[in-house]
Amino acid sequence: MVAQIINGNEVAKSIRAELKEEIAGMKMSGVTPGLVVIIVGEDPASQVYVRKKGEACVELGIDSETIRLPAETTEQELLDLIEKYNNDKKFDGILVQLPLPKHINEQNVLLRIDPSKDVDGFHPVNVGKMVVGAEDCYLPCTPHGIQELLVRSGNDPKGKHVVVIGRSNIVGKPITNILLQKAPGADATVTICHSRTQNMSGFTKQADILIAAIGVPNFVKADMVREGVVVIDVGVNRINDPTAKNGTRLVGDVDFESVKEKAKAITPVPGGVGPMTITMLMKNTVKAAKIHHNLKK
Ligand code: GUN
Repeated sequence: MVAQIINGNEVAKSIRAELKEEIAGMKMSGVTPGLVVIIVGEDPASQVYVRKKGEACVELGIDSETIRLPAETTEQELLDLIEKYNNDKKFDGILVQLPLPKHINEQNVLLRIDPSKDVDGFHPVNVGKMVVGAEDCYLPCTPHGIQELLVRSGNDPKGKHVVVIGRSNIVGKPITNILLQKAPGADATVTICHSRTQNMSGFTKQADILIAAIGVPNFVKADMVREGVVVIDVGVNRINDPTAKNGTRLVGDVDFESVKEKAKAITPVPGGVGPMTITMLMKNTVKAAKIHHNLKK
């Protein structure tokens, strides 16, 4: 079987084109969406993500500000800053880049963000709304991007058996909840596996759609999937590769070369799920601006 390679860059590009047009229309009614991104410390991967978020805002016409704080910032200082932006009408969305330095309690920080500005979808109010399928919530960006990738690549999950590997709050748990909703682009039967699951292959072989988000390089091998599976690889793992220019390369959680021989469709790493995450953040920021200004959906 020659697998369809699901191109995240292409899908992200078409969503961004839609958003650009929508934002231009909002500006005609005097509304410019605004996003503030806060990063604490010097984590190199986080620095790259934050830079890309700022660039995406510029590309689409969203007002943005990036606040870079030193690693020694106290939890109280961060909470006070969030409070300031909760009360600043110029900003519709507030994003605090994770992970935070160890001395700062992540839950305290996420709880302080006004749920109507929580464009990451991590506040318990938005998590709860997602679980009950409420319209006015912000879905977390990576799982929402996965749903868009499936639908827009012609692999609608309706009625399919989706097997998720990984139970994180950022990907595994939310994608499970999103795809089991009684709603367009969902309506799937979902099984969730994790690091303590016994006989993992027994589950993964039953998948019509397999979503790998376990954080182990090349974890899913060809003998763990059935012919015709659709594979979404959420992993971003840097491994040593003496043949690469800088001695390393990025791989996913799926052994792409072998699994693609059996798959109907598969996402590459990089260029699959990755480009969707920031695009869905832009979409949530636009949604927040509409909510704050009572514009129609
Ligand atoms: N770090 C890794 N992924 C994410 C994300 O989706 N949002 C935030 N805020 N931090 C992250």
